[in-house]
Amino acid sequence: MSGKNVRVAKADELTELSMRINGEECRGEVEPRTLLVFFLRDELNLTGTHVGCDTGHCGACTVVMDGKAVKSCMILAVQAAGADILTVEGLADDDKLNPIQKAFTENHGLQCGFCTPGLLMTTLALLRENQQPTEADIRRGIEGNLCRCTGYVNVVKSVKAAARALSEARKESSQ
Ligand code: FES
Ligand code: FES
Repeated sequence: MSGKNVRVAKADELTELSMRINGEECRGEVEPRTLLVFFLRDELNLTGTHVGCDTGHCGACTVVMDGKAVKSCMILAVQAAGADILTVEGLADDDKLNPIQKAFTENHGLQCGFCTPGLLMTTLALLRENQQPTEADIRRGIEGNLCRCTGYVNVVKSVKAAARALSEARKESSQ
């Protein structure tokens, strides 16, 4: 039987990788066990992506990867090689807040703010998939993002406001 040569990387061996982050090609070297969230925070200094639980429960580490909201503590950096990633740092246009950030600010969708980057990225992916979500759609969409402060009422209000703002912006750009 002709066997294949399978080479398993050692835990501390560095692997080169590149991915597109917030529109820019980023390269780095990581240990194979490095989680995407630590690649973003520790290697690229993109500390807007938070680490809450490190076990996939809280959603603080949510980023958008190839159009889907993902928990970056549940993905190895090497699994994201070649992907297109958007983090909270990529939302604003210089000093101009993204409509989702503006809606959260204006509707008091945050208190301490720890969960907010993850909620913003989940909202972005949700509103890309569903431009006119019902309250039930919104609550289902954000169920993987835990917030200890707001009780979610103003978060839901913020997502609704963001959906309206994005819809207005689409109408204006099509005129
Ligand atoms: S830090 Fe990733 S889900 Fe909590
Ligand atoms: S605003 Fe504090 S955890 Fe959500």
